[in-house]
Amino acid sequence: MTTPRIFGTPLSPSATRVMLLGSGELGKEVIISLQRLGVEVIAVDRYPNAPGHQVAHRAHVIDMTDGAALAALIEQERPDLVIPEIEAIATDTLAALEAAGTITCIPTARATQLTMNREGIRRLAAEELGLATSPYRFASSLEELQEACALVGFPCVVKPVMSSSGKGQSKLDSAADVQAAWDYAAAGGRVDAGRVIAEGFIDFDYEITLLTVRSRGADGSTQTSFCAPIGHKQVQGDYVESWQPHPMNALALQRSREIAEKVTGNLGGYGVFGVELFVKGDMVWFSEVSPRPHDTGMVTMATQVQSEFELHAKAVLGLPVNTALRAPGASAVIYGQLDAQGIAFEGVAEALQVPETDIRLFGKPESFARRRMGVALATAADVKTARERALAAAAKVKPVPGRA
Ligand SMILES: Nc1ncnc2c1ncn2[C@@H]1O[C@H](COP(=O)(O)OP(=O)(O)OP(=O)(O)O)[C@@H](O)[C@H]1O
Ligand SMILES: [Mg+2]
Repeated sequence: MTTPRIFGTPLSPSATRVMLLGSGELGKEVIISLQRLGVEVIAVDRYPNAPGHQVAHRAHVIDMTDGAALAALIEQERPDLVIPEIEAIATDTLAALEAAGTITCIPTARATQLTMNREGIRRLAAEELGLATSPYRFASSLEELQEACALVGFPCVVKPVMSSSGKGQSKLDSAADVQAAWDYAAAGGRVDAGRVIAEGFIDFDYEITLLTVRSRGADGSTQTSFCAPIGHKQVQGDYVESWQPHPMNALALQRSREIAEKVTGNLGGYGVFGVELFVKGDMVWFSEVSPRPHDTGMVTMATQVQSEFELHAKAVLGLPVNTALRAPGASAVIYGQLDAQGIAFEGVAEALQVPETDIRLFGKPESFARRRMGVALATAADVKTARERALAAAAKVKPVPGRA
């Protein structure tokens, strides 16, 4: 792991340069945190004027799944660190460049390879690390899927191995649902449309994201620290609300931390990881992990001394981190509600009339009805009040058509 030893001046030969691969709302906040430390930031995305492009020193538009294009851009920009913000990247190219000593990939190229494919991370967690997960089988055809579902049992969940935000995912109650789940997964998968995972349905009490930070300690060793657990609500596999701290019994919290330490320890490197866990009583199941800040963790912009984005920026630069909670709080997603370019938002002032609230509008050039365009944040003396405030604030923001 190489981290910059000294900090330079942006846009000068001494600059410390960081390249973000993916420049959405999460990348935008990481970039802002890096900018505050005088880092020169290069933002990359597949479309122009992505949120992170708007706050970086330089912006590039490329197809990040194109290994040759990615390698050429890295060669041109020569960043000290490469931070993948999304899963859909030519991770084999990152691995080859890392092996050749050309780049330092955050947290490691292997972590990005394993987590972009559900098969990689699931086999690592369950078969190598022995972590509790839902029962699962992989399938590459309808016939295999029928067998896989019968083995894991109903109800079960079928997901393309390469997909995120619930795309192509369905819950099945019986064998009669398998054909529809296969067709839906094939339509919703990202790259290899032909492979899916069938997972037994876990009837959890609640699910959490445990933000876990690997950073450099004073003696040079790697430290693992944990943020307070984040509770969240998912609709169609997409997060709509999150809050922190989610109350947990001591044993479940301890088990969650043990799981998070094991899986992030194996993935290695520095940075924030979003470890997704299902909890029922004292029992904890590992679900999946993002080797980067997590969307449900946007709540930390209101609740923590250092948000997950600041933690990520500091950790990847080899700096000390502070995961302390400042106040209980919540986040609520603001959706586009319209399919249009250059939309506008009414009701922002009214939203901020709600006590202890804040808002982020991501600046995405194009809105879709179910595209996340912003988020409302709130704090309060307790999570219940914070959730009410965040939801109230989000509801006041109304996307409207922009000027022609
Ligand atoms: N085996 C399961 N049992 C019960 N619920 C599940 C199971 N798998 C997924 N879910 C539900 O579906 C949600 C999305 O699943 P998962 O995190 O695997 O998909 P994803 O597409 O990677 O979503 P995201 O990108 O938003 O994290 C989970 O947060 C959980 O609420
Ligand atoms: Mg998930």
